Amino acid sequence: MLATQDYSAQSTITTKLMDWFFKHKKDLPWRRTYTSYHIWISEIMLQQTQMERVPDYFKRWIKRFPDIPTLAQASEDEVLKLWEGLGYYARAKNILKTAKIVANHHNGTLPQSLQELQQLPGIGPYTAQAIASIAFEHDVSVVDANVERVLARLFHLTTPVKTRSTQEQIQTLCAQLLPWGQARMFNQAIMEFGRLVCLPRTPSCSHCPLRDYCQAYRKGATTQIPVRPNPKTPIFISMSTGVLIHDQRIFIQKRKSNDIWADLWEFPGGVIEDQESPEETVTREFLEETGIKVKPADFLGHYQHAYTHYRVTMYAYTVELRTKLQSIHLTAAQEYRWATWTQIKTLAFPAGHRQLIAHLETSPQFQARIIP
Ligand code: ADE
Repeated sequence: MLATQDYSAQSTITTKLMDWFFKHKKDLPWRRTYTSYHIWISEIMLQQTQMERVPDYFKRWIKRFPDIPTLAQASEDEVLKLWEGLGYYARAKNILKTAKIVANHHNGTLPQSLQELQQLPGIGPYTAQAIASIAFEHDVSVVDANVERVLARLFHLTTPVKTRSTQEQIQTLCAQLLPWGQARMFNQAIMEFGRLVCLPRTPSCSHCPLRDYCQAYRKGATTQIPVRPNPKTPIFISMSTGVLIHDQRIFIQKRKSNDIWADLWEFPGGVIEDQESPEETVTREFLEETGIKVKPADFLGHYQHAYTHYRVTMYAYTVELRTKLQSIHLTAAQEYRWATWTQIKTLAFPAGHRQLIAHLETSPQFQARIIP
C-alpha cells in the first residue's frame, strides 16, 4: 500500500519541503517578478540546460526583448544568436513563433488556461503547468524529472518511472502533496529540492529534511530509484570542415530547416567516411554541398563536443579554390554568404564551429587575411 492515505505524513512532507525552499531557494532573476513572460522564457531555457547557465542567458534575453511584442518583431537569426550555446535550437524558434501568435491574437500576454497554453508552439503539458502555477498561481502540479525522482524515492516506486501507470501514480501523489493556493512556491520547492538535495546519483540524504519520511532511504534503495532504462551508449563520430576565404570574405552556409542544427550557420563539411582522410572529406563535402572545388591548405585543429549521445570530433582546415569560382549549388543549406568577421559574430553556429571561430578569433595570421 502506498503511503498516499497517510494525510498527516503528506502534510508534513509538504511543510518540510516548503520550509526547506524558503531557507535555500536560489535568487533567480525570474523569481523577482514572476511575470508570465519571464516564467515562460525561464522554463524553456531550463529544459535540458543546467540551472547555473540560465540566469546570464535570461538576463541578456530580457534586456534585448523586454516584452512579448518586442520579441515578436525579432528576426530568427537574432533569436538564435541570443540562444547560441544553450542547444536544442528548436526551443528558440518555437519561442519566436509563440511570441508572434501571442502578440497578434492575445494582446501580447500569454493566456492563462492549460488548454490555451498548450496550443502554443513549444509549450507542452510540463511548460503549461509551470506557467499556470508559477506565474498565474493556479492550483496545478508540475512534474519534471526532479519531481519524478523525489516522489519515486519518497514512496518507493519500483516500477520504471516513465511507464504510464507510474506516471499516473506520480501525478496523483503530486496533486495530493500540493497545498492549495501555494502552487507557485510548492512546485518550485519540489523541483529545486530534487535538483539540489535529492540528486540523481549521490543524493544528500545526510542533510535531507525528508529522510525520516523517505521509503527508499529506509530500504537502502535510493540509488536504485527511480528506475530508468539504460542510457544509450555514446556514438563517436568524426567530421571534417573547411574554411574558404575569397576576396577577404569567408564562405558560410545556413543549414536547412529540417535537419539537426536546422537554421544555424556553419562552414561546409561532414562526416568522415570509411577509408577517407579528413582532408579528402573536406574536398568531397565542399563539392557535394556547394559545387565549389577546393583543396585543403592549413590544418587548424580538432574540436570536440557532445550532442545528445553523440561524441563528435571535428577536424578543421583552411581550404583554397582549385579552379576559378563558378556557380554555387547548395544541397545541404538554404542560403550562403561571403561573410566578414563581424557578420560571422552576429550569427549562431553549432558548438564545434563555435570553438573553431573562437580559435580563429585569436589567430593573427587568419585575421590578416579577412575583412574584420
Ligand atoms: N526546474 C525547472 N523549473 C524550475 C523552477 N521553476 N524552480 C526550480 N527548479 C526548476
